[in-house]
Amino acid sequence: MIRKMEERDVAWACELDALLFPDAAWGEEEMREAFLPGRRFIVAEKGERLGWAAMDVRGARAHILSIDVEPRSQGQGVGSSLLFSLLSSARKLEKGRCVLEASCSNAPALALYEKFGFRAKGRVRGYYPSSDAFIMEKDLD
Ligand SMILES: CC(C)(COP(=O)(O)OP(=O)(O)OC[C@H]1O[C@@H](n2cnc3c(N)ncnc32)[C@H](O)[C@@H]1OP(=O)(O)O)[C@@H](O)C(=O)NCCC(=O)NCCS
Repeated sequence: MIRKMEERDVAWACELDALLFPDAAWGEEEMREAFLPGRRFIVAEKGERLGWAAMDVRGARAHILSIDVEPRSQGQGVGSSLLFSLLSSARKLEKGRCVLEASCSNAPALALYEKFGFRAKGRVRGYYPSSDAFIMEKDLD
C-alpha cells in the first residue's frame, strides 16, 4: 500500500535516509517540509514500512527529491511502486516534465530511473560529497 507520509513517519524516514546516505541525509526539520503545499511525500507499507519517496511540484515541473527503500526490502518492486505513484500524480500536470538528480555511481537507482523512461541530460560535478550527479529528465504524457 502507498499512502501519504504522516508526522509519525518523519523520524523513521530520517533514520532510513541516514542509513542509506550517511554523508548527505535529510534532517528532521527539512523532512517536515513534507507537509508544505506542493510537496508529495509517500510511504510504502505492507504490515511494516518498506520505503518512502518525495516529490516537489512547481508549475509544470515535478522534481523527485528522494526514494529510499529499506535494505531488506530492496529488489522486490518497492522502489518501482513508489516511483510509479509519484509519476501518476505528476501526470496530472499539463505538458509536464519530471526531473531528478542521481549519483553517477548509483547503478541501481540509474537503472530504475532509466526503466521508467528518464534520460540523463547533464552532469553536475561534486553534487554529492563523494560523487557527481546526473540530471535526469522525463516528459510526462
Ligand atoms: C534504488 C532503489 C530506490 C531501487 O528500489 P528497489 O525497490 O530496490 O527497486 P525495484 O525492486 O523496484 O527494481 C526496479 C528496477 O531498479 C533497478 N534495480 C534495482 N535494484 C538493482 C540493483 N541492485 N542493481 C541494478 N539495478 C537494480 C532494476 O532496473 C530494476 O528493474 P528489474 O527488476 O526489472 O531489473 C533502492 O535500491 C534504494 O533505496 N537504494 C538506496 C537509496 C537510493 O539510492 N535511492 C535513490 C536515490 S537517487
